[in-house]
Amino acid sequence: MSGSEVQHCVTTPVRRALEAGAVGQQARIQGWVRTKRSSKAVGTFLELNDGSSLRNLQVVVPQSLANYETVVNSLSTGASVSVEGDIVESPAPGQETELRALRLDVVGHAGEYPLAKKRHSFEYLRSMAHLRPRTNTFGAIARVRNEVCRSIHAYFQQRDYLYIQTPIITGIDAEGAGQMFQVTSLDLTNPPLRDAAVDFSLDLFGRPTHLAVSGQLEAEIMASALSHVYTFGPTFRAENSNTSRHLAEFWMVEPEVAFCDLALLMDIAEDFLKVVFSDVLANCMEDMRFFNDRIDNTVLETLEHVVTSDFVRLTYTEAIEILRVSGRDFEFPVEWGHDLQAEHERYLTEEHFKLPVILVDYPASIKAFYMRLNDDDRTVAAMDVLVPKIGEIIGGSQREERLDVLLTRMHAHGLDPEEYWWYLDLRRFGSVPHSGFGLGLERVVHFMTGMQNIRDVIPFPRTPRSADF
Ligand code: 4AD
Ligand code: MG
Repeated sequence: MSGSEVQHCVTTPVRRALEAGAVGQQARIQGWVRTKRSSKAVGTFLELNDGSSLRNLQVVVPQSLANYETVVNSLSTGASVSVEGDIVESPAPGQETELRALRLDVVGHAGEYPLAKKRHSFEYLRSMAHLRPRTNTFGAIARVRNEVCRSIHAYFQQRDYLYIQTPIITGIDAEGAGQMFQVTSLDLTNPPLRDAAVDFSLDLFGRPTHLAVSGQLEAEIMASALSHVYTFGPTFRAENSNTSRHLAEFWMVEPEVAFCDLALLMDIAEDFLKVVFSDVLANCMEDMRFFNDRIDNTVLETLEHVVTSDFVRLTYTEAIEILRVSGRDFEFPVEWGHDLQAEHERYLTEEHFKLPVILVDYPASIKAFYMRLNDDDRTVAAMDVLVPKIGEIIGGSQREERLDVLLTRMHAHGLDPEEYWWYLDLRRFGSVPHSGFGLGLERVVHFMTGMQNIRDVIPFPRTPRSADF
């Protein structure tokens, strides 16, 4: 049998069975019982969900079924079942179809299901990560997240970018910020020593290595030959920040474009975000309405506003001026040369402009070594895209393509150029102006769904003191 003939599913997804056009079809549905309700006159009603849709399919189990008593008595919330029957028009309000069961098999019993009926807090559900995706909220998150990923790939593929893979284990600190997890094959309880220090020459790679904080520098290598590339993979940051916007492991998409300056990069970033948001609105409306009804009743309005408006563009220096005259009593000082804090970013996007803001030209001293120095010698061609509630959703820049300037910048950041010899070589052999950015996948899903905490938009969050499952 060739691959194209393989039937992946001998069942009908609930999503399809719910469509009016399915009436009259025979179907086999497999899923998990959400609720069970019995009626003397008809039999038993089951609400079945298989993750393909926010809505459940109502299954009517008639008393005439041969194994009715045994099967129905043993069923409870959480049990898995396989049902065959006819899809018919449903007399019940709010659903066009239902399934009349002709055969019902219990695949797995559920016993005392820990998530029965009552609403649970998101914190509690994090401790039940093996059952969490069975809830409405986390099913909807998974579907939206999937659509965001599909849309990201489609966006770049349709525009001739090559999807490239950059290493997860690396010897370099791409951001020069030192927030890295070390990777080693040495025995940490008894490491080999030389001159009273750990002897990393005996480590598997013969040197210290870390989990990548970004794939950017390698993406620059690839863009310096293949022009338009993007990475999309997990990145790791050992920053001990317990905020609602930070994860220690998150997914980042990083396009890198040769022959591209900051102005073009801003256009790309804005267009890209709008396409991704629009795709989710077009293809996940049922789930998005759920978030709007249950989680945050501003998300739909905000997203529709964002996709039809021009993002505001201004310099860091202009932003500092706006914040300074705002009359606001910010917790952190507003001073040229200091990084903007979440409260500042939120003021700009939520109150002052009520729109996403692309901030450029940050002070060189607070940004990474690879960003291109501007003619004023004190700012760099950096770009952060800020959105309401979340703050920074994209961070990017034009890269320093001039060898001498890059060397000076590295020294200023206390980095050893010898460690980055290959990065410097890119500036020796056909150097080109080039630019790129990083978009945090979880920041997108966080923004779009209105969820309170970024930990709840990834199936298995990794945060300080938490790496279960
Ligand atoms: O601004 P960052 O640190 O930029 C880079 O890593 C560049 N190398 C990207 C590039 O130019 N290719 O991170 C980029 C984005 C942020 O804007 C944010 O969306 C996300 O990654 N991000 C995080 N998301 C969740 N948890 C964290 N701890 C994050 N840190 C950054
Ligand atoms: Mg950043």
